[in-house]
Amino acid sequence: MKKIYLASPHMSDEKYEENFVKEAFETNWLSTVGENINKFEENVKEYLNINSAVALSSGTAAIHLGLKALGVKKDDIVFVSDLTFSASVNPIIYENAIPVFIDSEYETWNMSPKALEKAFEKYPKPKVVIIAHLYGRASKMDEIINICNKHNVPILEDAAEGLGSKYKDKYLGTFGKCAALSFNGNKIITTTGGGMLVSDDEKLIEKVRFWSTQSKDKARHYQHSEIGYNYRMSNVLAGIGRGQMKVLNQRVSKKREIFDTYKKAFKDIEEIEMTDEKTYEKSNRWLSTLLIKENSKIKPIDIIESLEKENIESRPVWKPMHMQPIFEKYDFIKIKKDEKSVGEHLFNRGVCLPSDTKMTQEDIKRVIKIVMSNWGR
Ligand SMILES: Cc1ncc(COP(=O)(O)O)c(C=O)c1O
Repeated sequence: MKKIYLASPHMSDEKYEENFVKEAFETNWLSTVGENINKFEENVKEYLNINSAVALSSGTAAIHLGLKALGVKKDDIVFVSDLTFSASVNPIIYENAIPVFIDSEYETWNMSPKALEKAFEKYPKPKVVIIAHLYGRASKMDEIINICNKHNVPILEDAAEGLGSKYKDKYLGTFGKCAALSFNGNKIITTTGGGMLVSDDEKLIEKVRFWSTQSKDKARHYQHSEIGYNYRMSNVLAGIGRGQMKVLNQRVSKKREIFDTYKKAFKDIEEIEMTDEKTYEKSNRWLSTLLIKENSKIKPIDIIESLEKENIESRPVWKPMHMQPIFEKYDFIKIKKDEKSVGEHLFNRGVCLPSDTKMTQEDIKRVIKIVMSNWGR
């Protein structure tokens, strides 16, 4: 039985990636400098319409150096989305700062502006607010920016899952003081592993570029006045990224088509909810997700196991950060103290469906049939 993946690497039919990688080999630019890196950064800047970008070894590295560039130090408070992947949070701990998790809202699954306001009542002076755009859905940026501006706190966007998504005609990744992108193997485009920090602030990006290549002072000998990191992307992998940028819009269209096909197929199953986009957003639909209503006897695990039996990969919604054993000791802010968290509810009721852009119509039909069979359809 053909395996269907949740989201796996998808190179262009035209072999753009191979050709750029080949160029790197043929010219012996097999290090962390070269044409592919420069051009990949240019391509992303142009696509997002942003001033500057630095290609790094991972999205996690981008968040780490982004936090440092925003001045995060030991014992600083950093607000961060609760419903996200752990890589949004780990870099806060690398800097010995303190995460405070902010609950989600049902409408977007992302950080609730109301919970964010509550968090400011308790902690008036966080150093940074990290906003993750989960599964490529846009967070409510107007509200969030208003709140953060009022308190004079910069936003770091975690747009790892959101490349190609728009909020009010602007791409995600262009709203914060800086933003992290990921090119991990499961992302909408990949370099096998990699990331980028983007910003309109060229100085900020130059500083990050300096740190990412071991903080070498201008001198003939190796001299260091600051701690350095080996976080730069290789010119070989940047070649893959350059090629993938040529098909990014195609990937977004395919992901959106996958979501629409699922949504249409499940419209008569009253117990399944698939949230529509808001009028102001255009999601890349990196992962298609569904929510099973609370009163249903079907649980996410039933769907996941039924798909697994047929060699199809799916996954529960990300487990919120405040529920993670490693992060349990940190504070978590909800709108109402005594109500169950929204993130926890989404985790308990949600499923990430196969969203691989290599799926054929037949593959999508196979998935739909198995999901429906849980409801005896
Ligand atoms: C929301 C989120 N943030 C950060 C990351 C980290 O990116 P990377 O794997 O490139 O380090 C990922 C994905 O892996 C992610 O999904």
